[in-house]
Amino acid sequence: MLEVKNLTKSFESPSGKVTALENVNISIKTGEFASIIGKSGSGKSTLLSMLGALDTPTSGSIKVDEVDISKLSASKQTVYRAKKIGFVFQQYNLIPNLSALENVMLALEFGGMASGKRKKRAVQLLEEVGITPDEMLRRPTRLSGGQQQRVSIARALANHPSIILADEPTGNLDSKTGKMIFDMLHSLSRKENTTILAVTHDMDIAGKTDRTFTLKDGKIAV
Ligand SMILES: Nc1ncnc2c1ncn2[C@@H]1O[C@H](COP(=O)(O)OP(=O)(O)OP(=O)(O)O)[C@@H](O)[C@H]1O
Ligand SMILES: [Mg+2]
Repeated sequence: MLEVKNLTKSFESPSGKVTALENVNISIKTGEFASIIGKSGSGKSTLLSMLGALDTPTSGSIKVDEVDISKLSASKQTVYRAKKIGFVFQQYNLIPNLSALENVMLALEFGGMASGKRKKRAVQLLEEVGITPDEMLRRPTRLSGGQQQRVSIARALANHPSIILADEPTGNLDSKTGKMIFDMLHSLSRKENTTILAVTHDMDIAGKTDRTFTLKDGKIAV
């Protein structure tokens, strides 16, 4: 269960205070697939970075299985990110000088898996998302966008996260590949009862999720 209460985030900018999120209240059940839509600048990425403990709220609480993650110490937040959260970004964010396989193995290392077990688990994850043995050994620049996004999904799923946070995961892909990637994310997370929160601009995709939240000027629109 993910429970966000009265979440507000403001930034100081040279021209004054920007309120990116204002009194956001949402709750998402374990295993639910929710989408977030809203215009550019409405606060979607800010919301995901709060949920992933990449940044701290100005006020309000974010409870994941009853624990308020915004109140954890920095070191506990790092553990929370590595073990409980899987991130998928529009720009894939793979490490350029590591192969696909090494990218996934690194996530397993951060998740605390013993070194002798990482390779087998990484290969299995990459197979699940349809990456061939040859592709596994390539660096990200030698893979297509769709293949890179599959690798980043394998990486996101590596440590059996309870929540996947996806910020426009199909934003750089053609619509057919995008739908395939979304379906893959959906079915893999169903299998493990993972909660997903995905930002999208594609209304067809949003329509397929269990629930859609709309952000407007930092507030949840009703
Ligand atoms: N670090 C920051 N410092 C100052 N203002 C910020 C910062 N991050 C975000 N903002 C502002 O907060 C608001 C929400 O930004 P956010 O990135 O969450 O929007 P978004 O909905 O993800 O937009 P997009 O669809 O373009 O990705 C914007 O007005 C943005 O300029
Ligand atoms: Mg954004």
